[in-house]
Amino acid sequence: MNSDRPVALITGVSGQDGSYLSELLLAKGYQVHGMVACGHAPGHCPPEVVLHHGDLADGSNLGALLDAVRPHEVYNLAAQSHVQLSFEMPVYTANVAGLGVLRLLEAIRIHQARTGDAVRFYQASSSEMFGRAVETPQTERTPFHPRSPYACAKVFGYWQTVNYREAYGLFACNGILFNHESPRRGETFVTRKITRAAARIKLGLQHELRLGNLDASRDWGFAGDYVEAMWRMLQYDQPDDYVIATGCTHTVHDFLDAAFGRLDLDWTRHVQIDPLFLRPAEVDVLRGDATKARTQLGWQPRVAFDELVCMMTDADLQLAQREKRMET
Ligand code: GDD
Repeated sequence: MNSDRPVALITGVSGQDGSYLSELLLAKGYQVHGMVACGHAPGHCPPEVVLHHGDLADGSNLGALLDAVRPHEVYNLAAQSHVQLSFEMPVYTANVAGLGVLRLLEAIRIHQARTGDAVRFYQASSSEMFGRAVETPQTERTPFHPRSPYACAKVFGYWQTVNYREAYGLFACNGILFNHESPRRGETFVTRKITRAAARIKLGLQHELRLGNLDASRDWGFAGDYVEAMWRMLQYDQPDDYVIATGCTHTVHDFLDAAFGRLDLDWTRHVQIDPLFLRPAEVDVLRGDATKARTQLGWQPRVAFDELVCMMTDADLQLAQREKRMET
């Protein structure tokens, strides 16, 4: 192992954010290690990333993994991150997204005490913690009101991270990230579900798109911009918690207009409302104020809503074209 290079360990490396963060850190000269849960494919993870098996639901090999990798920075991106699924699998979700954070923090605390290594820790906290938000826009001072098993688990992980900072002096930060999307977004999240369907409809590969609540409003940014904020948090003098957002909110309707409009399609002719995709409790509107990240970390989003929708729709059109070619 080259001791001159900074070493990072990313949990959940096979996900959208894991792939963008890996690329960013590799470009900065890091040696990047990634933890992949059982049964997960490496996804868009670059080949230079050293992969290790591990699962936050288990945790028994976390200490050995830290000893083997000796990371300077740990980014905890692993979770069961689908809000609707968390209503169907609340205990599993709480185990990974909530207790999993504690397992990792405790493993880092013990590893640091034993080796004397200084480890910086990033926790992927979520704007879902604001839930039925008491104010708009939401800042680092806005109280939490979680509305799903997923959001409750994230609140637990958030406070464990704060507590390890205060109790043990761990350099631990929460990034309270608002929704962030890209062509690599999982296909069951609403943005990707829409752009994938719009492209397939355009090419006659499907005709209908079934969705839930179209009135929900989200502050959607580009995942590639947001991983840069994660890295900046761990380079700052002091550990702290930051809202990462664009400051603009759009409804699912707006997203449909933009994506289908990009392909000259009228979504009202294709979208069906299906109660299957309605949640037992909904988060109606989220909009973040990232002033603290802008002033303290010098971070700001580069990709705006319209550009994001075009980027995703265009990428999915290419994917659908390949699919169509394979069909013929
Ligand atoms: N997934 C999905 N599928 N959502 C739908 C659908 C549908 O068919 N129809 C309407 N929606 C609405 C949801 O009810 C929600 O209000 C909104 O679209 C966004 O849903 P998702 O894309 O699933 O994202 P999310 O906001 O619930 O959660 C995402 O962002 C969080 C950050 O705020 C996830 O990435 C979380 O892991 C993340 O923490």
